[in-house]
Amino acid sequence: MEIGFRGKTALVTGAAHGIGRAIVHGLAARGAQVWACDVLPDTLEETAATAEPGQDGGVHWRVADVGDAAAVARLAAEASEGGAVDILVHSAGGTRGQVGQPVEEVTGEQWQDIFDVNLKGAFNCVRAVAPGMKERGDGRILIISSGAGLSVSLTGIQAYASAKAGQIGLVRQLAHELGPFGVRVNSVAPGFVRSNPTSERQWRSMGVEGQERLMGSIPLRRLGLAEDIANAVMFLVSDYASYISGQTVSVNGGRQ
Ligand SMILES: NC(=O)c1ccc[n+]([C@@H]2O[C@H](COP(=O)([O-])OP(=O)(O)OC[C@H]3O[C@@H](n4cnc5c(N)ncnc54)[C@H](O)[C@@H]3O)[C@@H](O)[C@H]2O)c1
Repeated sequence: MEIGFRGKTALVTGAAHGIGRAIVHGLAARGAQVWACDVLPDTLEETAATAEPGQDGGVHWRVADVGDAAAVARLAAEASEGGAVDILVHSAGGTRGQVGQPVEEVTGEQWQDIFDVNLKGAFNCVRAVAPGMKERGDGRILIISSGAGLSVSLTGIQAYASAKAGQIGLVRQLAHELGPFGVRVNSVAPGFVRSNPTSERQWRSMGVEGQERLMGSIPLRRLGLAEDIANAVMFLVSDYASYISGQTVSVNGGRQ
């Protein structure tokens, strides 16, 4: 199976850290013109600089906050100048540097901050690209959710678990709405991946015993890599997945 994206335009959010970066690299290597966005300019630029685009592939990067609907609309308009955005991957998200705390100590701002990037960000991005996809009768939307949205979150952060579960509901609903227009909508739910400063801190804070316990709970006995997540995304946004929509695929080494 050879997956290719020559002639396709892709928009990838959250491209400055591991998973989003691996998705940008995977799409560009297979010939897509990728528009990568994040709020971290330095590491975002590094994503573009370390890409190895294949024939017709390329990476353009823009600083944009996915919680800002106007900024997302501007980015989508710029990316679709030559036609339309064919592929949207919403990977921006995460815990925004927060840690788990008792529910009565969580502030409204903390709750909202996580929702703005994970769930409202997904909504803003889909809203910006859906009209072009519907007009063309083709589009692939992929939202990076999390095992936290399917089960209990290792982070202990209530807003994170809720926003990730919300993304999974959004995927189901959008697949129903956009399917008649030829637009497929899916999600990948990663398990624990050491792909950003927060997950690195979390890994260290587990200590050797906690790390061994986590490894022992994963049937494949290793942690996932950003590339493992990106590979699942490549399949789901490719023509090989042309009859798959509304699904959330766990990529977690078989952990239940
Ligand atoms: N790493 C893990 O263990 C893990 C597990 C399950 C799910 N996920 C999800 O995978 C996705 C990617 O995670 P990651 O590990 O690559 O990095 P991450 O969790 O740090 O977040 C992804 C990126 O989103 C960016 N971002 C944050 N707020 C933004 C905003 N308002 N606008 C635009 N960009 C913004 C961050 O700067 C970061 O580069 C996230 O949605 C995360 O929730 C990660």
